[in-house]
Amino acid sequence: MYAEITGWGKCAPPAILTNDDLATFLDTSDEWIYTRTGIKRRHISHVPCSEMARVGSEHAIACAGIDPTELDLVILGTTTPDQFIPNSASTVINAIGASNAAGFDVNSACTSFLYSLNIATDMIKAGSIKTALVIGVEKTTRLLDWGKRESAVLFGDGGGAVVLQATQEPLGLLGAKLSLVPHTREMLSMPEFGVDLSHQQQHDFYPSLTFEGQEIFKNAVKGMHEACKDALTKTGLTQDDIDFFVPHQANVRIIKTLAKRMAFDMDNVMVCVNEYGNCSAGTIPLSLCDALEAGRIKPGMTLLTASFGAGLTCGAGVIKWGERTTPIATSEAKLPPCNQTAIEILQPAIDAAKEKYGE
Ligand SMILES: CC(C)(COP(=O)(O)OP(=O)(O)OC[C@H]1O[C@@H](n2cnc3c(N)ncnc32)[C@H](O)[C@@H]1OP(=O)(O)O)[C@@H](O)C(=O)NCCC(=O)NCCS
Repeated sequence: MYAEITGWGKCAPPAILTNDDLATFLDTSDEWIYTRTGIKRRHISHVPCSEMARVGSEHAIACAGIDPTELDLVILGTTTPDQFIPNSASTVINAIGASNAAGFDVNSACTSFLYSLNIATDMIKAGSIKTALVIGVEKTTRLLDWGKRESAVLFGDGGGAVVLQATQEPLGLLGAKLSLVPHTREMLSMPEFGVDLSHQQQHDFYPSLTFEGQEIFKNAVKGMHEACKDALTKTGLTQDDIDFFVPHQANVRIIKTLAKRMAFDMDNVMVCVNEYGNCSAGTIPLSLCDALEAGRIKPGMTLLTASFGAGLTCGAGVIKWGERTTPIATSEAKLPPCNQTAIEILQPAIDAAKEKYGE
């Protein structure tokens, strides 16, 4: 048994924050951000994570041509759920009417979508379920310290979802390698986030991100490269068998370094970090949707995907695409209107950062 990807859908919130917008309150510039990261702009959400997840999911379900009641399982890959208890997959399940689905959240940071895809695929392969919805969506901008330019300029909000359906054909995620780089937890962490039960403290939450950019960069390239090689070995393929590469979108320099190590031509590599920034678990579903919309994923292609994130978690997977690259049906799903600019949405958090750093 295999798990074909039969539906896909995305949600990119409408408010846009450009590099020039960031330069109005941070000591940075479009030139610095673009040359170091490839990012031009990012979308800022005016709604919680589950609302973006609902929109992406409704598009994916319509695309697959199924009824939401056919779903046996919904996995929400995210680091920014609306709440921890109960999980946010349950919010999405209620919103989309997936009344027969089990649901849970997965948090492995930016790799949450890939980890979730692997879990759902293996459950379908094992025969315990037939149809699953796998979501990767983030509201990363809720977690940023808007006084720290080295990390504040990198992230954005958004994501998407895919529908998996059981099939006898060798399609979908054929093999994957999930990993974690030992002793790198502190490189990308948020020590003050949430309810730290070891200290029993809670306070008004304007977070501080611990972020060692260069160390993350090096470990990301190494970790993803190893995971890619392992995923290819597991599926009995080599890099020459890969038609299109869909990497995590954190930094175009990371993508290019990895593509070079894998000997991939950049013409066959998806890059959309310029448009969205790093949407953490949202980057791979956004990339898949944009690649399909642009006609870059063609029937029967063999894809390689790779991701890394806080933990540091890593992963890679080989995906065999089916014959269909267009939706069976479309959905009218959209977010509620947004009547604020990106800066207006973020203003309370920007003001909190100014107060914190005494500006
Ligand atoms: C963060 C990152 C873009 C920084 O790029 P870099 O080339 O390593 O830059 P450095 O950290 O060496 O900083 C170079 C200089 O730019 C400055 N700088 C940092 N952020 C800046 C910003 N937003 N605007 C302007 N200058 C900035 C630094 O203070 C430093 O100044 P100095 O030379 O006077 O000390 C890069 O390390 C990176 O992308 N790392 C991976 C991080 C990541 O993707 N994390 C997500 C994990 S899912």
